Amino acid sequence: MIVASVSLQPADTAAITIPKVTVIGAGNVGASLAQNLLAQNLADVVLLDIVEGRPQGLALDMAEACPLEGCTHHITGTNDYQDTAGSQVIVITAGLPRKPGMSRDDLLNINGNIVLEVMTKALPHSPDAHFVLVTNPLDVMAYVAWQASGLPPNRVIGQAGVLDSARFRTFIAQTLGVPPHDVSTMVLGGHGDLMVPLISHTTVSTIPLTELLPAVTIRQLVDRTRKGGAEIVNHLKTGGAFYAPAAATATMVAAILQDQSAILPVSAYLDGQYGLEVIYLGVPCHLDSTGVASVVELSLTEDEQAALESSARSVRQTLHKARTLFSL
Ligand code: NAI
Ligand code: 2OP
Repeated sequence: MIVASVSLQPADTAAITIPKVTVIGAGNVGASLAQNLLAQNLADVVLLDIVEGRPQGLALDMAEACPLEGCTHHITGTNDYQDTAGSQVIVITAGLPRKPGMSRDDLLNINGNIVLEVMTKALPHSPDAHFVLVTNPLDVMAYVAWQASGLPPNRVIGQAGVLDSARFRTFIAQTLGVPPHDVSTMVLGGHGDLMVPLISHTTVSTIPLTELLPAVTIRQLVDRTRKGGAEIVNHLKTGGAFYAPAAATATMVAAILQDQSAILPVSAYLDGQYGLEVIYLGVPCHLDSTGVASVVELSLTEDEQAALESSARSVRQTLHKARTLFSL
């Protein structure tokens, strides 16, 4: 009797590459992000922290959720950068969060040193990786990481605008009583109190926001968005937001891994776009497997352009301090 031999393995297993994402910092944002990436089956995930036992314990807990949640990828918890080798994307969430009364800029010294250390240790193991910065003060940390890496700027990107836009969408949706996914908007500028929600580009099911809400209400929603991070810090007392920041970062990671060419507001290096240069700032970008493929230059109203320049001036002040502190 002839028995046919059936192989369940694909013929060319060598051609299958499972994407690998490293998350540095197994705190609130890092752990939530790792869990989010696993739950979406996006990649194998390495979670690294300086605290011994923390990433290992969290990774084991997440692995034990996989049979229930249907995730098929692996999670590794570690304190050793060798385990991060060959990552396609490395997300940096390591660093202190704000306490009530602190601004994001108050974190510059301590978090700048952490980001420099992380870049120096992570890059040699993953020379082809894209780096996504989450650590605050965000736009300046992206600049510091880029400078420390020597990488082309399209491979070092900051997460802020996806989160800030999600917050603005949430507040608009709650005010109008519509589903949040019906709201389309972009928040540009630095990740601080001078961020720029683009009212001229905000619609609800294609209807301009200005036709649905009075100017005074829109101003209140803009103000709440600008202070969205602080509102959560004030509730929690210790630490800041993490579920929405993790979801926002996962959106960027997916755009890179899946070569989506999605247009997202991210902190990108500007080289003359919007009249600004030698700065990382939140602008709409095409995000694909090359990282920032291009910056999208929207037409802004005069007020929006002025607000973007004002936000850039504020980021530059902290950038100037960072250049001195870290000899950049
Ligand atoms: P957290 O305190 O919960 O976690 C930070 C983690 O970093 C800790 O587990 C700590 O052990 C680790 N860490 C510190 N130094 C390290 C080092 N040298 N190497 C590896 N790991 C190290 O803080 P959370 O809430 O997760 O926030 C992390 C950062 O992200 C903060 O700077 C926060 O302000 C920022 N953030 C930024 C957002 C954004 O939209 N860009 C949104 C939310 C938070
Ligand atoms: C936030 O916006 C703290 O930057 C962080 O929630």
